[in-house]
Amino acid sequence: MTTAREVALDVTARVRDDDAYSNLILPSAIRDARLSSRDSGHATDLTYGALRWRGLLDAVLDECVNGPLERVDSDVRDLLRLATYELLVRRDPPHIINEWVNQANRRFRRAAGFVNATLRAVSRRTAEEWIATVTENASETHALAVRHSHPEWIVREFIELVGAGEVSDLLSANNEPPVPTLIALPGLAIRPVGAQHTEYSPYGFRSEGGSLSDVAGISDGVVRVQDEGSQLAVLVLTHAFPIQPNERWLDLCAGPGGKTALLAATGNPHGVSLEANEVLPHRAELVRRSLAPFGDSVAVSVRDGRELCAENSNTFDRILVDAPCTGLGSLRRRAESRWRKQPDDLVDLVPLQRELLSGAIGSLTVGGVVAYVTCSPLAAETTEVVAASIAEHPEAETVDTATILTTVAPSILNAQRGSAVQLYPHRHHTDAMFIQLIRRTR
Ligand SMILES: C[S@@+](CC[C@H](N)C(=O)[O-])C[C@H]1O[C@@H](n2cnc3c(N)ncnc32)[C@H](O)[C@@H]1O
Repeated sequence: MTTAREVALDVTARVRDDDAYSNLILPSAIRDARLSSRDSGHATDLTYGALRWRGLLDAVLDECVNGPLERVDSDVRDLLRLATYELLVRRDPPHIINEWVNQANRRFRRAAGFVNATLRAVSRRTAEEWIATVTENASETHALAVRHSHPEWIVREFIELVGAGEVSDLLSANNEPPVPTLIALPGLAIRPVGAQHTEYSPYGFRSEGGSLSDVAGISDGVVRVQDEGSQLAVLVLTHAFPIQPNERWLDLCAGPGGKTALLAATGNPHGVSLEANEVLPHRAELVRRSLAPFGDSVAVSVRDGRELCAENSNTFDRILVDAPCTGLGSLRRRAESRWRKQPDDLVDLVPLQRELLSGAIGSLTVGGVVAYVTCSPLAAETTEVVAASIAEHPEAETVDTATILTTVAPSILNAQRGSAVQLYPHRHHTDAMFIQLIRRTR
């Protein structure tokens, strides 16, 4: 019989070797192993926890092995990370070391003594004691990076954004797996009676626990999982000015189509014509599937958004540019993602973001509005992209987006970033979504 620990070992190996996404492969690994619901919870926490906390775990393990940790066989290293996560973060009792030594015996017998000795050393101190030890002579940024298990460059970026006083809250929030939020698409579904409503979106609610597939409306696609920040990004665009019949809307970067569905649900009753575009064919297919509840009322195109805009000047009344980005605003959602990001990712992304936004502004009708949205708060991908695109388009200006947001979510606080909206997990319990409305004035 496969155990939770074995599932966690297998999944972390595939994340490491095949660049797999843990959230995509873990559910089927759990199903294949036929784990009980208790063991499924254990496997899930172990896998995501050890991936998320890798920075801290490695700093501790580095102190406990002779020589550099990178020299340790990668399968053994993953086992040590999982076990150290259990000991220090979950604070499971030291007898779990025997379970891991048994695993080591089964998988790589020669390492069992080394695993035992290393884990005994780990278990001699608490997490707090280890953090004090491994950050003793560290800079403040490095100490934060270790304590909250983030790459140091990301900590530096976040300090720039929220300041040193608040950054710990943001880093801690990134280590909390989010409670899934759902949306009942307006006009197609209503929030279940008694469901806990989300704070800001009029259509959002939280699941009551249990399997999401049991939630009414999920299988028909009229209720779906969607971060509240994503819901608000769409609603800010649809509330930018009253919807007129026969408006033309474009979702320029639509895959996999979560936001398109809310655009369609909002626009269809007004006779809006909506086009959803996505450059990657397999993601365009996901957009088509996402739009199943709307029949063929939404046109789906598979094009480079820059070309599409170049051929359609003065055409659309509202455009959503949900740009490809580093995704640093959704680190809490994807356990391993923080370790895969590099500052160099910006080299290709930023010019693409600028061209997509600039192209979209060129496709607006006079009075039309673009919502530029990223799931990253970094200035290079947000305010700087907006400033560069506006500089190219004297006919466009930014709109005070926080004011529009309060028409959707009157109780929201602390969401203003200049003329834009900036949501954060530690402030709003959403992904760190950036939203800037831009209007063509002439
Ligand atoms: C942040 S995702 C969009 C998420 C989507 N709006 C949703 O809510 O489901 C960005 C998308 O832009 C697509 N993309 C990247 N480059 C593009 C381009 N040049 N033109 C159009 N889409 C592009 C990516 O493939 C990706 O699917």
